[in-house]
Amino acid sequence: MARDRRTAAEAKPKGEEAAAPQNTLSITDNRTGRSYEIEVLEGDAIRAADLRKIRVMDDDFGLLSYDPAYVNTASCRSAITFIDGDRGILRYRGHPIEQLAEQGTFLEVAYLLLKGDLPTRDQIAAFTHEITYHTYVHENVLKLLDGFRYDAHAMGIMISVVAALSTFYPEAKDVRNDENRWRQMVRLIAKMPTLAAFAYRHHRGLPYVYPDNSLSYTANFLNMLFRIGDREHTPQPVLVRAIDVLFILHADHEQNCSTSVMRGVGSSLADPYSALAGAMAGLYGPLHGGANEAVLRMLTEIGHVSRVPEFIHGVKAGKGRLMGFGHRVYKSYDPRAKIIKQIADQVFEVTGRNPLLDIALELERIALEDDYFISRRLYPNVDFYSGIIYQAMGFPVELFPVLFAIPRTVGWLAQWQEMLEDSEQKIARPRQIYVGHGERPYVPLELRS
Ligand code: CMC
Repeated sequence: MARDRRTAAEAKPKGEEAAAPQNTLSITDNRTGRSYEIEVLEGDAIRAADLRKIRVMDDDFGLLSYDPAYVNTASCRSAITFIDGDRGILRYRGHPIEQLAEQGTFLEVAYLLLKGDLPTRDQIAAFTHEITYHTYVHENVLKLLDGFRYDAHAMGIMISVVAALSTFYPEAKDVRNDENRWRQMVRLIAKMPTLAAFAYRHHRGLPYVYPDNSLSYTANFLNMLFRIGDREHTPQPVLVRAIDVLFILHADHEQNCSTSVMRGVGSSLADPYSALAGAMAGLYGPLHGGANEAVLRMLTEIGHVSRVPEFIHGVKAGKGRLMGFGHRVYKSYDPRAKIIKQIADQVFEVTGRNPLLDIALELERIALEDDYFISRRLYPNVDFYSGIIYQAMGFPVELFPVLFAIPRTVGWLAQWQEMLEDSEQKIARPRQIYVGHGERPYVPLELRS
């Protein structure tokens, strides 16, 4: 999240004596009358561990910061993704999301996130080759898939199968080895579309379609999903491009719930398959990557534009949330939602207009004029319009969170790698404020009332 970069001295109210600028914070503990000086770091942060020196008795643990849901705690220093939530800015490695979405490809953006800079012609050719030739999965994975019920949710299948991949690649445990780590990252990015397509085909009872290495990352994914018999699925270029752009928009979003899980699990030096399965589980929830599916179900339930006011009334009365609205960091329009709205027009020219779009547009119109949403600074987020596009393209709703997870795999891996290379990081271990019973004796069962 962006922070104001003024120094403490610059931030002084006008008219105050100009003292020598100091990037420190003076704290007086009114319990003891003692004063402390704490360094203010880059990003206007203090080290929470510096608070430990503030104590009443010498043998106290020292002061803690209490921050449920980490609303105001930086857990790392990161050079990957920049967000300014007030101004609706999102950049990957410094590049504005709008430019990447307009001019880049998903694999170029993946390279950028993982390596730090946009690739040269040779670099992208080599990376594309690597990804293309790791798309196959071990045949035993198919047996695993067969064990799932016909109506198993694709995310449940994906989480399990990604975790299972760690058993196929036991060398992945050697996370400190750069070359080995890179091989696992390539495997994961390459195999996610294959696993997603297989999960979908299992659900439909259709035979699996193996990867076709002559196709692009996105076209191959669509072919594995939708090919019937010998006829290669040749999607309209507009739709292939739309998926590529949607993948770019979902590739990373700094320290959100699932990324924090990836870093947290990875901090115990677990292999990346296990860590990524955990991250996917975090993404699955309806407040995070499951929101695109929840939006579609909500729009379907509303059913008609005329019922929008009644639905909004219900949300304001506390009967559920307007899914696809609101964000912890964006307090203005999510820049990704703006781009997705533009893609929708291009997609609908090919597929025909999704009738749910009218309901979504009406929800947005009413919500953006309503004081409940204005005062809470609730705007459409990335999930509000994406589902309508996916549905028009023929994806079933159960696949929507998976369509989020495939590109986010890149972000999770970039963040995981950065965490492992950061000498300040160690195993994640937050503290707690204990509010339970004091010591009490064990009472034998027959004596308990
Ligand atoms: N509909 C109605 N009210 C809302 C909504 C919403 N979608 N989002 C927040 N609020 C209200 C909330 O009830 C609270 O009101 P009050 O102050 O009266 O109690 C206030 O706004 C602040 O909400 P919060 O829950 O404290 O905000 P948060 O930062 O903890 O939650 C959020 C962020 C995304 C979980 C939340 O906005 C939400 O549940 N949105 C709907 C689910 C959704 O679309 N999630 C996708 C997020 S973007 C994709 C991703 O990266 O995951």
